[in-house]
Amino acid sequence: MQPFVFWNPTEVVFGKNGVKKLGKLVKKYGGSKVLLVYGKGSIKKTGLYQQVLDSLKEAGIEWVEHSGVKPNPVLSHTREGVEKAKREKVDLVLAVGGGSVIDESKAIAAGALADCDVWEFFEFTQTIKAALPIVTVLTICGTGSEMNAGLVITNEEKKAKYGFRSPYLFPKVSVLDPTITFSVPKDQTAYGAVDAFSHVFEVYMNREDLNSPIPEGIMETLMRTIVERTPQAQENPEDYTARADLMWASSLALSGLTWCGVSAAPMLPCHAIEHALSAFYDIAHGAGLAIVMPAWMRLMKDEKAEEIKRFASRVFGVEGVDEGIEAFERWLKRVECPVRLSEASIPESDIPALAENGNRLAFHWGYKEYTKELIEKILRLAV
Ligand code: NZQ
Ligand code: ZN
Repeated sequence: MQPFVFWNPTEVVFGKNGVKKLGKLVKKYGGSKVLLVYGKGSIKKTGLYQQVLDSLKEAGIEWVEHSGVKPNPVLSHTREGVEKAKREKVDLVLAVGGGSVIDESKAIAAGALADCDVWEFFEFTQTIKAALPIVTVLTICGTGSEMNAGLVITNEEKKAKYGFRSPYLFPKVSVLDPTITFSVPKDQTAYGAVDAFSHVFEVYMNREDLNSPIPEGIMETLMRTIVERTPQAQENPEDYTARADLMWASSLALSGLTWCGVSAAPMLPCHAIEHALSAFYDIAHGAGLAIVMPAWMRLMKDEKAEEIKRFASRVFGVEGVDEGIEAFERWLKRVECPVRLSEASIPESDIPALAENGNRLAFHWGYKEYTKELIEKILRLAV
């Protein structure tokens, strides 16, 4: 077990009807006039929007809206949110949505108190020194953004999907009501689940310590839970147990808990590669990961033989490296994810450009061994 510091200050309110407490929770963290951030309209269809407003009104909280956040949120819309937050002098950012809404909210919370352009934080040319408090109501699970300090935004002009972390960006409180995710369609349920799975998988495969049963056991339990619950939630969208297990597994997956004692920081090379895919083609992050992860395993199967064998046996109940890769790919297909570039309409001829883009981010994140050539090899195994 390596030395570590575990600090996750996000308050989690988990269970049915959490939104009723929202107004009070916002007040508790200093909100009197909030920027209400949401996506393209799912919260209006489900009735959640009205419940949020009712709770804010009951607590006497004013709000200004910033809607239309798109999946794979973009810098131009984020900048509009920063301007609005500054102009309206809001004192808290309230995100009602999935990872995209929460990430854009985090960027707005940082940008609202900054003198520089918010993109500078993503390029590491400026360091964040403060942020408005952030409160979230999660509507789709997967990214773990509701309980972590990270965010990812796409700069459309530069075709760069970059992320960073800052302790200022942990949400103060996140409301996690699994019933809100009953309306998440089959495909998005899978993409979220695969994303959460990948957060554990990447740490499991790239950890420095293979002899720590506590983090290893936590990771295996999270992965097994996601494998079992995803098809159940797809078959019966209102299966509370399946939705609840997926929600909590997703939040824990990138909360910092899994790498305590095994890595100083999570190493996420498949993410660096995937971000190139979603920056170029605007595909769902989870769909991109479903294509990249098995290809990464095929390239790493000798180097990571021990890790893959354990994964095969303890997550999928099969013995052997090839058997583990096959079982994983079978599961991805079962939950209806693409596993080849062509299934996401990504032409083979784009691989060099994707590899170059992925390498830029990998370099940014400090993964020096992930050269353009190595990433190209991985992507060729996804053809
Ligand atoms: O925009 P609306 O209308 O709300 O529709 C959304 C969107 O189309 C819909 N949806 C959300 N909740 C729903 C619902 N539909 C029906 N019922 C509901 N209850 O689902 C679609 C996808 O939403 P989105 O927020 O984009 O999904 P997700 O949570 O997967 O977020 C993806 C983004 O997060 C980033 C990804 O790269 C991507 O940009 N990530 C963030 C991370 C972090 N902050 O730690 C880590 C991850 O690795 C990831 O990179
Ligand atoms: Zn992810």
